[in-house]
Amino acid sequence: AKIRRYKWEAKYEYKSPDCYKKLVATINGKSPGPTIMAQQGDTVVVELKNSLMTENLAVHWHGIRQIGTPWSDGTEGVSQCPIMPGETFTYKFVVDRPGTYLYHAHYGMLRDAGLYGSIRVSLPDGKSEPFDYDYDRSIILNDWYHKSTHELATGLSSIPFSWVGEPQSLLIQGKGKFDCSQSLGASVCNASNPECSPYALTVIPGKTYRLRIGSLTSLSALSFQIEDHNMTVVEADGHYVEPFVVKNLFIYSGETYSVLIKADKDPSRNYWITTNVVSRSPNTTNGLAILNYYPNHPRRSPSTVPPTGPYWDNVSLRLTQSLSIKSRQGFIVTPPQTSDRMIVFLNTQNSINGYVRWSVNNVSFTHPHTPYLIAVKHNLTHEFDQTPPPDGYDFVNYDIYNIRNNPNATSSNGIYRLKFNTTVDVILQNAHSMNSTKSETHPWHLHGHDFWVLGYGEGKFDIYNDPKKYNLVNPIMKNTVPVHNYSWTALRFKADNPGVWAFHCHIESHFSMGMGVVFEEGIEKVGDLPSSIMGCGATKGGLPRP
Ligand code: C2O
Ligand code: CU
Repeated sequence: AKIRRYKWEAKYEYKSPDCYKKLVATINGKSPGPTIMAQQGDTVVVELKNSLMTENLAVHWHGIRQIGTPWSDGTEGVSQCPIMPGETFTYKFVVDRPGTYLYHAHYGMLRDAGLYGSIRVSLPDGKSEPFDYDYDRSIILNDWYHKSTHELATGLSSIPFSWVGEPQSLLIQGKGKFDCSQSLGASVCNASNPECSPYALTVIPGKTYRLRIGSLTSLSALSFQIEDHNMTVVEADGHYVEPFVVKNLFIYSGETYSVLIKADKDPSRNYWITTNVVSRSPNTTNGLAILNYYPNHPRRSPSTVPPTGPYWDNVSLRLTQSLSIKSRQGFIVTPPQTSDRMIVFLNTQNSINGYVRWSVNNVSFTHPHTPYLIAVKHNLTHEFDQTPPPDGYDFVNYDIYNIRNNPNATSSNGIYRLKFNTTVDVILQNAHSMNSTKSETHPWHLHGHDFWVLGYGEGKFDIYNDPKKYNLVNPIMKNTVPVHNYSWTALRFKADNPGVWAFHCHIESHFSMGMGVVFEEGIEKVGDLPSSIMGCGATKGGLPRP
């Protein structure tokens, strides 16, 4: 195994990813930032300098479990204090499994400002994947706002509440196209700026490509498609999938997939690659890129109409795709057949003292001043609420199909303490939101673990009967999973990674409005914490006595 060293500087720079000029948070001048390329078992060392001038920073390695290094998870308020402007912080962790992962800022809503990238972990030399391909490409999908992240975040935590609204454009590998005719002149929006010429994926006729597709959208659930080309899904969140063929791939924020495509169509032309919003009534133009058959010019737009993707409100299509994702034969990790604890998380929108919030079992998450990892490890009991939030909700009386009659909730920074090495089931239960916009999909992401996806179902989860329908034979393992509109999703994981881990909706505005929880397990097995993660809250100027 090797050591892969990276030296990164995070900075704001003016860029025009969708032709509209704004300040973008970059790494070494780029958004998406550099791709981390490593082999299974390698150690990745990232020396990260915060040159954002006035903003704090932390970077999370999304999908990397951080076994033995919970302090390198990069989650501000959970695993570390923020990296202050001018400071340098070093992350060091092992990439223990091959697959497709992501990284992104995990401080406030900074991810939305453009600070993100891909992690590609390949197999060690001499080992090969259970499928064949000639070339490997990474593509990150994103949605994009023209307002600053600071303005968006402030609006969400203000009275009156100011919602972020639908994004202005969709980016494919950092490039999109906003309609500049709606805007303020060429100094702000310039349709012929080369920075916003569409991303071109060049293919050699006859060859097979592995596309590693990740979504880091702020809000949108997406469908991704390539004109005239089917895709074979082979990997999800670092796990091999029993291959299945799709015309369009639904992908939720925080998920990654590998699909295989064959460049076997008429090679005399290029083809459209498109992405469109699903799950919310869209008000964002579709993202466009070009599948460029070599040697055609990569900028030559196909003369055909770009595929529009499925209708946004077709939930059953999306549920069907979720249900098709199974673990690949020969690579199945069988889940424990029973669990030690079941936690049901009802996701609702609430109002707390005039603020609009999201909550889980009527508790809206707030960050503590001292990161949990430090507070729990050093038993600083005054640093967060010692009462754990509830394991369930009022299953009998709660009507998930209607606006709740009492929108009150509480806020808390209490956490769930899991017994080390136990098996935990989490049921995500979706419901109607507070206003008339009904129910929307939430992609939930778990730090520090992969979980088995045991099942999905429509309506209210039935504690007695639905567990009998779980897939305990070949469930896929993932780190991010959607809970569909008015539906439930059941997960199982082993609490076997000593540390403190966030579990939250990956929609940036939802998490910042309180849609998350924190799990602790095996804290006594966590080694000495590096002092580099301290320096805020109760740890300012050294650790206090408990
Ligand atoms: Cu990719 Cu806590 O997030
Ligand atoms: Cu959400």
